[in-house]
Amino acid sequence: MTPRKPIVGGNWKMNLHRAQAVDLAKSLVDRVNSNEDVEVILFPPFPYLEAVGKVLRDASSPIRLGAQDFYHQPNGAYTGEVSISMLADLGVTNVLVGHSERRHVIGENDVLLNQKVLAGLKAGMEVMLCVGEKLEQREANQTDDINAGQTRYGLAGVDPKDMARVSIAYEPVWAIGTGKTATAADAQNAHVAIREVVARQFSTDIAQHVRILYGGSVKGSNAPELFAQSDIDGGLIGGAALKADDFMAIIDAATNSVSA
Ligand code: 13P
Repeated sequence: MTPRKPIVGGNWKMNLHRAQAVDLAKSLVDRVNSNEDVEVILFPPFPYLEAVGKVLRDASSPIRLGAQDFYHQPNGAYTGEVSISMLADLGVTNVLVGHSERRHVIGENDVLLNQKVLAGLKAGMEVMLCVGEKLEQREANQTDDINAGQTRYGLAGVDPKDMARVSIAYEPVWAIGTGKTATAADAQNAHVAIREVVARQFSTDIAQHVRILYGGSVKGSNAPELFAQSDIDGGLIGGAALKADDFMAIIDAATNSVSA
């Protein structure tokens, strides 16, 4: 079994203001030390990337700075958009692509998301592609098909050697912000199926190395069972990432899953 270092990402979405964002980052840098067996990434809103990045830099923290989105073009007449090089300027090393709120609320499609994946990788970013089925798709037994399609489209044309900088977050849409979590067994099954897609698209070796995170109402209480599953390599956390104690409980669960 290939040891995969778990990732715990805090997706702050469109929450917090400057003072709260800085306070949260400060309490986390005090508590996440460089010996962690877990990679921790914070995804603050765009306006606070610089302030949060400064907290991480000043503390020489191992916590990585991530952006929730970006536009794939390098520059130009794209009002309201943010380029990857602008993010790199702020110290961003990780980016999300295709979060379900981008797909289903904002309306981004697989073609655009694939352009973002390719552009993010070309610019040297670590890219986390988010996939996941909606409730009606789950009820129609389409979970694996939806995940397979979003994974295949999202990663189309990726150079196999860049796959070391790709991770996948499986976030069933019906479990996001609803308090409903996939059972650990359901999540594990979905992760195995996604890993098989990566194996077919790239290679077994690449599939064994790619980190697949679970997201959707992860809390300190359910994280240990989820992270104990052999194909769940950490979590992408929304609501519970907004309080240092709650987020730390999840980081601790990921750390314990490594030593278990
Ligand atoms: P919640 O943890 O609030 O359900 O959000 C999950 C998510 O969408 C993380 O990206």
